[in-house]
Amino acid sequence: MEFAGSNILSIQQFERADVERVFSVADMMEPYAHRRRRTKVLDGAILGNMFFEPSTRTRVSFGSAFNLLGGEVRETTGFESSALAKGESLYDTARVLSGYSDVIVMRHPAEGSVAEFAAASRVPVLNGGDGANEHPSQALLDLYTIKSEMAGRGRGIDNLRIAMVGDLRFGRTVHSLCKLLCLFDNVHVTLVSPQELGMPGEIVERMRSAGVDVLESDQLESSIAAVDIVYSTRIQEERFSTQEEADLYRGRFRLNQSVYTANCEPNTVIMHPLPRDSREMARELDDDLNDNPNLAIFRQTDNGVLVRMALFALVLDVVDQVDAHASDVTWCTAGRF
Ligand code: CP
Repeated sequence: MEFAGSNILSIQQFERADVERVFSVADMMEPYAHRRRRTKVLDGAILGNMFFEPSTRTRVSFGSAFNLLGGEVRETTGFESSALAKGESLYDTARVLSGYSDVIVMRHPAEGSVAEFAAASRVPVLNGGDGANEHPSQALLDLYTIKSEMAGRGRGIDNLRIAMVGDLRFGRTVHSLCKLLCLFDNVHVTLVSPQELGMPGEIVERMRSAGVDVLESDQLESSIAAVDIVYSTRIQEERFSTQEEADLYRGRFRLNQSVYTANCEPNTVIMHPLPRDSREMARELDDDLNDNPNLAIFRQTDNGVLVRMALFALVLDVVDQVDAHASDVTWCTAGRF
């Protein structure tokens, strides 16, 4: 894949070598993301960070990643604060905003909307999540985290055993992650959901065609007994037609310390794209796991900055110039990393 000047819209754009390229550039970003060095390689560049759906991690980590490379960030948050609320088309919005930016990240509730926007944009567009469809940068940071967690156990991504749990119908992060896992060898995926919230058939078929061993289940305990990773997801209540319908499924699969201890192999990694739903009726990933060293959710969020820095550096074609624009940091970083 030619990264320079490309849109990043779907995980289907990636071959295994492209994923490995992203990961090797992400590794290179570690001193910058962890505030030991700073770089001004994107000095003068502007990111248009356009979020027409709620977000904490994706919006702020894309923005931080761009700032850490020395660029400036301009944001639009919420449909109502944009001219889309006055009936402006995605085409017009893209034509306008791409005149103000060097690269755009966009999240929008409609499937396919980011690709439609990108077709009219004059600068590269990165998909920050389009409805229930895809979330490619999340899948990359999830797999980067899996690689790192498995390396700590003397393993790689090949031969992975992973259980994905929860709302697999509307959860775009698991859609993208399943497509990404198709690039690796001897992967075993157990899909755990209520039948009504199962993984879309076309994605299951894609995995099977790629040689992934796929099991589908509606039982949590037996499904997490022999896996390397449990990847929990939230019920995507914003995608249901009514709150009552979402409530039918909330709290159906709860992973807490006692369920983990009773069922999982020692050192099973616990992941979640976040936000987790910490309300009493949900708690798909209980707070009592917070001190479990195998809980990787905040390592995922930290890794998101590295991976998003890598995507910007590749798309804006500055990978080879990052270190030439670097200096030491002068402020106290308080041992955050
Ligand atoms: N994982 C994720 O997409 O989180 P946000 O909705 O906070 O961006």
